[in-house]
Amino acid sequence: MNNTINIAVVGLGQVGIYLLNELNTKKKAIEHKTGKKIKVVAVSARNINKKRKFKIDKKIFFKNPLEIFKKKKVDILFEAIGLSDGISKKVVETALKKKINVITPNKALISKHGNNLAKIAEKNNINLEFEASVAGGIPILRSIKEGLATNKISKIYGILNGTSNYILSEMEDSNKNFADVLKKAQKLGYAEPSNPKLDLNGFDAFAKIRILSALSFNSKISKHKCLMEGIEKIELKDIIIASQLNLRIKLLGISELKNNQLFETVHPCLVSKKSYIGNVNGVMNAVILEGKPVGESILQGEGAGPGPTSSALLSDLLSILRGNIKKPFGVSVSKLKTLMNYNVNNYINSLYLRFEVKDQPGVLSQITNRLAKYKISIKRIIQTPDKKNNKATIIIITHKTSELNCNNCLSIFKSNKNVLKTPTLIRLLS
Ligand SMILES: NC(=O)c1ccc[n+]([C@@H]2O[C@H](COP(=O)([O-])OP(=O)(O)OC[C@H]3O[C@@H](n4cnc5c(N)ncnc54)[C@H](OP(=O)(O)O)[C@@H]3O)[C@@H](O)[C@H]2O)c1
Repeated sequence: MNNTINIAVVGLGQVGIYLLNELNTKKKAIEHKTGKKIKVVAVSARNINKKRKFKIDKKIFFKNPLEIFKKKKVDILFEAIGLSDGISKKVVETALKKKINVITPNKALISKHGNNLAKIAEKNNINLEFEASVAGGIPILRSIKEGLATNKISKIYGILNGTSNYILSEMEDSNKNFADVLKKAQKLGYAEPSNPKLDLNGFDAFAKIRILSALSFNSKISKHKCLMEGIEKIELKDIIIASQLNLRIKLLGISELKNNQLFETVHPCLVSKKSYIGNVNGVMNAVILEGKPVGESILQGEGAGPGPTSSALLSDLLSILRGNIKKPFGVSVSKLKTLMNYNVNNYINSLYLRFEVKDQPGVLSQITNRLAKYKISIKRIIQTPDKKNNKATIIIITHKTSELNCNNCLSIFKSNKNVLKTPTLIRLLS
């Protein structure tokens, strides 16, 4: 690598424009730390005239990022468009094939095409870095690849979506319902204004879990269909009842090896208010890792936003500038294992069940009899009547049961006239 490193930034949205400003203002510090001068030689976005948070040099603007490869010599390219396919994939693939190092915060792209892209990077002996794709500013990927490199990791889990965590925390603090808090999150820039769905339905956390699994278990990014639930069905009522039980609801991403099979899931979990994870609130992310010989390690920090994301992108940049050629997934793609999928039917948890029912004699026994039939034993029942509307809320906390058993048991309530809506199910963290 020459002493002056040419950089392209593709995508000038929330992340790209902040990053560009960081690159411009931290040039000296970067040179001081790495001995390399950096020069931004190309930037790309859809609209040259769009008002942006920081000024851009229109002389180096490209509407079509693929033109950059024809007109400029680039050493390192940042991809910050964010699609799982399309132009994002094309730009990254083209760069890697042309022996240009790539840094990206794009979890959608990496969780879908990471292994193939890593293969190209390895073949060309260049870097593909994606620290910013998981848990924002928390250096979790680097910790797994380097600091914890020789550990045998058995489980990795945590709060991986700041938007969901903010909404759940804010519902509890403000006593406001999901829709109102979502609006506030959108106003504050914590949730996407037009389409917050991918944050709320668990998909965003799931993409991150897939990347974490691959690095933790030295395995190929899995393509298995998995249990994925978001927070959209959580009501204020659940948050209040959980709080009365000294519990909190958190959206957790979980990945673990069970009998050498891969189990990945994202779903809301009830956790103790006294637990570490129960006290990671607001937009914070936290990742807990269990490994041997290290034991339990916890990393916490801001999981999103252009600041933390740029911090991770710059750490990737410095790693490359220091001449660190690394396998994107820690070991060669050809050595990554293909893990069998653990059968979700065997997933075992205690459950929180909320039934909204007609306030009539015999309804509670219909529910408890059904649970008894499936040998689901009850730890606790709370029944709250709503006399005015002739309704009642029944909360049942169960002892542990399997996913299959629970699904079979609950299926009947979809067509029970006394049960007014599909029961809400939240798993307790085991
Ligand atoms: N935002 C965060 O806090 C955060 C945190 C962690 C990771 N990430 C990841 O960072 C990436 C970028 O996110 P973001 O929030 O910055 O997205 P964004 O605000 O939507 O920005 C996307 C950028 O891509 C540009 N773009 C779209 N299509 C293009 C095309 N065909 N050619 C050239 N440029 C194109 C847009 O151009 P115009 O501006 O002209 O429309 C815009 O500048 C995503 O992968 C995201 O998952 C974001």
